Amino acid sequence: MADSAGVSRHVPVLYQPVLAGLQPAPGGAYIDGTVGAGGHAAGILAAAAPDGRLLGLDRDPAALEVARERLRPFGERARLVQASYTQMAELAAGFAPAAGCDGILLDLGLSSLQLGDPARGFAFQTDGPLDMRFDPQAAPSADEIVNAWPLDELADIIFRYGEEPHSRQIARAIGAARPLHSTRALAQVVAGVVRGAGVVRGAGALRGGRAERGERIHPATRTFQALRIAVNGELDALAAVLPVALRLLRPGGRLAVIAFHSLEDRIVKDFFRRQARGDETDPTDPYPAPFEPALALVTRKPLTASPEELAANPRARSAKLRIIEKL
Ligand SMILES: C[S@@+](CC[C@H](N)C(=O)[O-])C[C@H]1O[C@@H](n2cnc3c(N)ncnc32)[C@H](O)[C@@H]1O
Repeated sequence: MADSAGVSRHVPVLYQPVLAGLQPAPGGAYIDGTVGAGGHAAGILAAAAPDGRLLGLDRDPAALEVARERLRPFGERARLVQASYTQMAELAAGFAPAAGCDGILLDLGLSSLQLGDPARGFAFQTDGPLDMRFDPQAAPSADEIVNAWPLDELADIIFRYGEEPHSRQIARAIGAARPLHSTRALAQVVAGVVRGAGVVRGAGALRGGRAERGERIHPATRTFQALRIAVNGELDALAAVLPVALRLLRPGGRLAVIAFHSLEDRIVKDFFRRQARGDETDPTDPYPAPFEPALALVTRKPLTASPEELAANPRARSAKLRIIEKL
């Protein structure tokens, strides 16, 4: 859906549970590390009226333009910066109150705007350049990885980030077909290997989604997911930001994270569980001090989309929301 300004009004994933979890309130200071089209951010700012503030970050300048339009009605209360959420601490310096922020949101992965634009190269259903970068100025692009990386490294990332059982054969087939410059050409090469091996079902990275329920997925799904994660360094960024976000919160402040596949969700779950137990010790420390629990789990099990949301937005099917409160 688009309004007269062409601004997408798609409803963000798990919108109500995110707002209910973050409990935005007047006077609060919030950070949306993945502001995207600004849907969650608009909800937070509306709930924090008249004076709550939000710092919104996104690596993608095109997403920020959309967010800027959408958040214009909130004026100075919304501050938007093109940056990775891994830079959150520096960027929060002039924004966060001394006691810390009231809430932080990370809605991971890519937006439907990015997926729906063939020129960004995220989708295998349409033809486009092999790009997949959230930040178009960053390196490498998917083209560089597909065409220039050694085949064993290519196989490794397809295995690790796609949990693709045919990673070695796929890498070999890509090597034989190089150069490959379009999403369609790559999808065809991958499909040739996976279909030939007779596998289009399974769990792994797509657990919680269609694959776990035994439904058919496109044979290139895992490889495209793997490339996107590698191009954008997604799992390293996530592992790096979680302790930073926790540090930036005030006691009682909340962090909400939406993951879209099991590799992401595992990082979030493990970090939250360790910090909630408070038994994190440094094995290299000769006098390890037992840490106090740093957070409480607001969600013991991740929240998922309701049947109504799934009917309206099938993309929500693999979303898992975890929320914690800093102690
Ligand atoms: C699922 S969308 C967010 C949608 C948003 N919650 C909304 O309501 O419209 C994820 C966004 O995160 C951005 N992103 C991914 N990795 C990022 C990172 N390391 N730092 C900042 N933004 C990132 C993507 O560019 C994308 O726009």
